[in-house]
Amino acid sequence: MGLRLRAAVVALISTTLLSPTVQAVDLGSVLADQANLTTFRGLVKNMVESILKYHILKKAIDMPSIVKGDSIWAPTMLADRNFSTVTGGQHLILTKQPGGEVVLTSGFATRGTVVTEDLAFDDGLVQVIDSVMRVPETLDATARGAYTDLTAFVGALYAAGLYDEVAGWKDVTIFAPRNAAFQQLAGTFSRMDEADLRRVLRYHVVPGRVSHVWELRNASTLATADGSGDGTEVAVTRHTNFIYVNSAEIVQADVLIANGVIHLVDNVLNPRRPDARPDVELTTAQPPVFTPLGTATATGSDVPTPFATHLPCTGTLEENCQATSSQATGGPTGTSGGAASSNAGGALPRCTGLTGAGVGIGLAVGAVMAGL
Ligand SMILES: *[C@@H]1O[C@H](CO)[C@@H](O)[C@H](O)[C@H]1NC(C)=O
Ligand SMILES: *[C@@H]1O[C@H](CO)[C@@H](O)[C@H](O)[C@H]1NC(C)=O
Ligand SMILES: *[C@@H]1O[C@H](CO)[C@@H](O)[C@H](O)[C@H]1NC(C)=O
Repeated sequence: MGLRLRAAVVALISTTLLSPTVQAVDLGSVLADQANLTTFRGLVKNMVESILKYHILKKAIDMPSIVKGDSIWAPTMLADRNFSTVTGGQHLILTKQPGGEVVLTSGFATRGTVVTEDLAFDDGLVQVIDSVMRVPETLDATARGAYTDLTAFVGALYAAGLYDEVAGWKDVTIFAPRNAAFQQLAGTFSRMDEADLRRVLRYHVVPGRVSHVWELRNASTLATADGSGDGTEVAVTRHTNFIYVNSAEIVQADVLIANGVIHLVDNVLNPRRPDARPDVELTTAQPPVFTPLGTATATGSDVPTPFATHLPCTGTLEENCQATSSQATGGPTGTSGGAASSNAGGALPRCTGLTGAGVGIGLAVGAVMAGL
């Protein structure tokens, strides 16, 4: 099945847009001839296969059927546990803009726009897109490589010994406070014991459920991983275009990761204040729901970020990370521009996770198809 899919995808892309010489198979046979490269070949094979599977939707979706302003969660054929721990297969988000164009969201802040819609073939539809979609990665890799505003939260998970637990869950929704939210409470967190920190962090994670932003209904509640006290649920408030979790505003929605979705929020949630609700009339940011301790701290990229040093990447490892990063950015074949997208292949070190490092295997444009 893997082979048949691969052949079909490559053929379809070549006949529609690429020169017919683009063949993933050649890469495989070249590597197979190099005895010392067999491990690498295995990795590349797995990666190529997973990237292609991520471009094949389980069900055909014709673009005119999507309502303007709506988003759809589209499961793909990528269901290997190594790359996805989301029930039903890792997914893409399809959003129809008010202007009518359809934008796809994938991992690592990578987006693409459908440039040719609904090319029909025997078993489905091909949507030609202007960049290659990126398989969502772990929380750690996503924080380092694409959303550096997550480093305090992810560092805090490591500091509390919770990272493996949270990254290991299948299907999660995470409300992750951005770095500035931790910075303004630096004094409070430096005085917090580990048990409290664990409780606070667990209160940001909804296990067993992937809730995209459009599924967060006003006045609904979500059960968090903190089952230890009064604050076991968080509440959603919608007001005009704003969406809040307790009183924290969602400032960046639907960041896809290997095991679910992250929404970045502008305040740390407090399990002792489950009743916190936003003052929707406020024109400035909602105030913190913790008592700030110590001297007031500033926020911003020049200010030390609490917990960021707990990301497991130090000394010599750091150099290795740089190497990985430049490989990923440069790409083995120097793709011709099309694959460029906002933050993908960002300049920051990536220390762990090989998944996705091979984006740009020679595809300058992508296609999403369905129906095989
Ligand atoms: C493979 O690697 C080993 C050492 O790691 C080296 O001695 C050998 O010459 C290499 N073989 C080839 C064909 O490059
Ligand atoms: C998953 O990872 C394991 C160990 O890293 C590897 O042996 C296996 O082939 C991988 N499976 C897929 C489908 O990538
Ligand atoms: C949202 O829910 C709150 C109660 O939590 C209610 O006061 C408010 O009117 C609702 N807003 C909308 C737009 O329905």
